[in-house]
Amino acid sequence: MGDQAEGLRKLLRKNRSKAFETPAAKTGGVISGIAIASGKGGVGKTNAVANIAYAIQQMGKKALVFDADMGLGNVHILLGLAPRYNIQHVMDGQRKMEEIIIKGPGGIDILPAGSGHRSYSELNRDEMLTLKTELEALEDKYDVILFDIGAGISANVMYFCSAASDIVVITTSEPTAFADAYALMNVLSKEYNQTDFKLIVNSVKSAKEASNVHNRLQQVAERFNANYRIELLGHIHDDELVPQAVRQQNLFLERYPGCKASKCIKAIATTILQSMKTPTSGIEWRKVFSA
Ligand SMILES: Nc1ncnc2c1ncn2[C@@H]1O[C@H](COP(=O)(O)OP(=O)(O)OP(=O)(O)O)[C@@H](O)[C@H]1O
Ligand SMILES: [Mg+2]
Repeated sequence: MGDQAEGLRKLLRKNRSKAFETPAAKTGGVISGIAIASGKGGVGKTNAVANIAYAIQQMGKKALVFDADMGLGNVHILLGLAPRYNIQHVMDGQRKMEEIIIKGPGGIDILPAGSGHRSYSELNRDEMLTLKTELEALEDKYDVILFDIGAGISANVMYFCSAASDIVVITTSEPTAFADAYALMNVLSKEYNQTDFKLIVNSVKSAKEASNVHNRLQQVAERFNANYRIELLGHIHDDELVPQAVRQQNLFLERYPGCKASKCIKAIATTILQSMKTPTSGIEWRKVFSA
C-alpha cells in the first residue's frame, strides 16, 4: 500500500475522530469498508463484490472481500475455492484472521464465511465486538474492504451496513427488487441514521434504464419524506456471459474482460477509487455500538 493511501487514512481517522467526539466514539476506529447489500436475494451482490474487487486489484490497489453472508457464504464457491477455515474458526478462537484469508483470482484476498451453520448467522453483541477487534487488525493491509452482505434486513445486515460508511445498494429494475432496496434503505435510515446510499442497478439493457430506476427510487423516497440521498454509482449490463462464468466458477471480468458486464464493473471500480481520494470510506464502529 502506498504512502499516499496511508496518509489519506491518517487524515480520515483524524477527521472522523474530530467529527464524532461523543462518548460512544470511544469504540471508534476506521477502516475502509464498503457494504454491498440489496434487501432482495439473488440480484447480483456476490458477483458485483467479487468482480469489483478484482477490478480494484487490477488497478493496482489491494482489495479484500469479506463474505459477510455468515450463514450462507458462497463467495468461495463463485470462485471455485475450497477454504479449509472460515470466519467461524476466528469467532470460535481457533484461528486468527490472517490464517483464514485465502488468495483469489488476480491476487484479491478472500475472507470466507461458513455455509449451513446457523451459529453466526445472527451475531450477538459480544461476537460483533470480537469481529470488530479482528477487523481492526487488518485495517492497514487493504485499500478497500468489500463486504458481501446477505439478503434481507436481519441484525447482521444492519450490523455490517451501519459499520461501513459507504453502503452500496444493488437492485434490478424488477419491482420486487426495487421495493426491497427501498425497504432496506428506509430501515437503515430510520433505525441507524444512515443518510447516504450509493446505488448499482444490475441486469439492465442500458444506462438509461439504470437512470430511470434511480430516479424512481429518489421520487418514492421524496414522496415519503425520506431523509437520505441516493447516488447512482453505476449499472451492470444484463449479460449472458455472467451466468456462464458463474457456472465455470470464474469471475466474468477475468474470463470475459471485454464483455458488456465487465466494462460496467471497470467503470464502477474506477468511480470507487476516485471517491477514495476524498475521505469518505470507513467503518464507523462508534455508530454500530451506539445504535
Ligand atoms: N448482470 C447480469 N447479467 C446476467 N445475469 C446476472 C447478472 N448479474 C447476476 N446475474 C445472475 O444472477 C445470479 C445471482 O447472482 P449473485 O449470486 O451474485 O446474487 P446475490 O445477490 O449475491 O444472491 P444471494 O442473495 O443469494 O446472495 C448469478 O449467478 C447470475 O446467474
Ligand atoms: Mg450472494
